[in-house]
This record gives sequence, C-alpha cells and structure tokens, in this order.
Amino acid sequence: MNIPDIIIAVDGYSSTGKSSLAKKIARKFGFLYLDSGALYRGVTLFAQEERLISRLGRIDPALEKALEGLDLHFGSDGRLFMGARCIEQQIRSMEVSSQVSPVAAAPFVRAWVDGKLRLFGSRGRIVMDGRDIGTAVFPQAQLKIFMTASEEVRARRRYEEMKAKGESPLLEDVVKNLRERDYIDSHRDTNPLRRADDAFELDNSEMSFEEELAWVQGLVQGKFGIL
Ligand code: DC
Repeated sequence: MNIPDIIIAVDGYSSTGKSSLAKKIARKFGFLYLDSGALYRGVTLFAQEERLISRLGRIDPALEKALEGLDLHFGSDGRLFMGARCIEQQIRSMEVSSQVSPVAAAPFVRAWVDGKLRLFGSRGRIVMDGRDIGTAVFPQAQLKIFMTASEEVRARRRYEEMKAKGESPLLEDVVKNLRERDYIDSHRDTNPLRRADDAFELDNSEMSFEEELAWVQGLVQGKFGIL
C-alpha cells in the first residue's frame, strides 16, 4: 500500500471527537498524530503557574517573553511534557479548559504554537487536529476534515470523559465552558475556527465511531485511491 507523505488536518468544534478520529487515522496509515490543542493547553498551564494570567483571563504581556524559555514537547507516546514533567493530566483539567480560549486568542501565543506545529509537521505523514490547521497552519494539507456535532452530544461526551477520569463536573458547567470556548474560538481576530473552503464536513451527532471511520476511509479512497 503506497500512502503519499500527506498532511491530514482535522479541525472542528470542541468535543466533536477530533482526537479519537485523528489518532485512529494516524494508526491506520502509520502517520504521526499531533494534538495542537495540547500546546495551547500547555501554554495556559504555564501562564497559570507563572501567575501571568488573572482569574478573569487577563493575560500579562510578560507571557510573550516568558514563552522564549518554555519547553513543551510530546513524548513518544503522544503525552505532553513541560521540560521533564508530564503535564498530560493537568492540561485536561477544568481549570485549564476554562482559560485556554483567551490564551489561544493572543496573537503572540498563536505565533509561538504555529512555529512548533510547522516544525513537527515539516516532513508530512502527519495527522494534526485543532481549530485552524487546514486554514492557517497547513493550508496546503492534502486532506482536510471539519468536524461538527450538536452541542448536547458534545457536552455529554466531555462530561462522560471527565467523569471517567475521576473528576466530578456539573453538566451545566461543561455546557457553559463549551459555549464560551466555541464563541471565543470562532470570533477571535487571529485565525478563528472556521471550515476551510476545501474541507469535508463531518457531523457525527448521530454516527458511531465505526461509521465515522468508514466515512474517512471512503474519502481517502476516493481522493487518493488507497486503503
Ligand atoms: O482541542 P482542545 O479542546 O484541546 O483545544 C483547546 C483550546 O485550544 C481550544 O479551546 C481552542 C484552542 N485551539 C486553537 O485555538 N487552535 C488550535 N489549532 C487548537 C486549539
């Protein structure tokens, strides 16, 4: 099977199942999977620990300079590290989730993250998920998928995910956080969340994971004649 060295961009709203699908596609093709949101979450955790963001989400301009010394990288198993410390669990907390969108809206944060993402993706054979991969980070990506699902389905998914990790969120807080993030992510000035003109839209509100996979396989087969 001859798979070209393509870049696959999986963008979309929060909790649409982007990472599950992107990981599965990567495994199937032997590609590298990269979660761009993890970097925004890592920067948010860093800003919180360095006290460079207020409780209301006001970012201290000193964060820009501080980022020069920040080492965020993925381990071989895909978990995010800050220096020698694995921060995978912390970056998924409600505390980080509630402040990540304002942090991700700062142009200097986006420039810092984009630089890292482009470096990671420079050789192709990569599946990257996020909000602006197909529109801004890799507009040249050969396959772009844009994922959506109803708010109810997405909130329920995030809620179950957090409970499975031993957290005790309130469903209404999860819904509130999703709404806020959707709004900020799609209304910010720099590279807002939107579907690229050449992206294929996947609404998985009423689809099983197997159906989603079959949809992607059909797409890849049609576009590249492989699988
Ligand atoms: O995919 P996620 O929920 O882990 O992303 C966390 C936040 O990071 C999300 O609210 C918006 C931001 N983000 C972004 O602005 N651009 C990306 N490419 C990925 C994530």
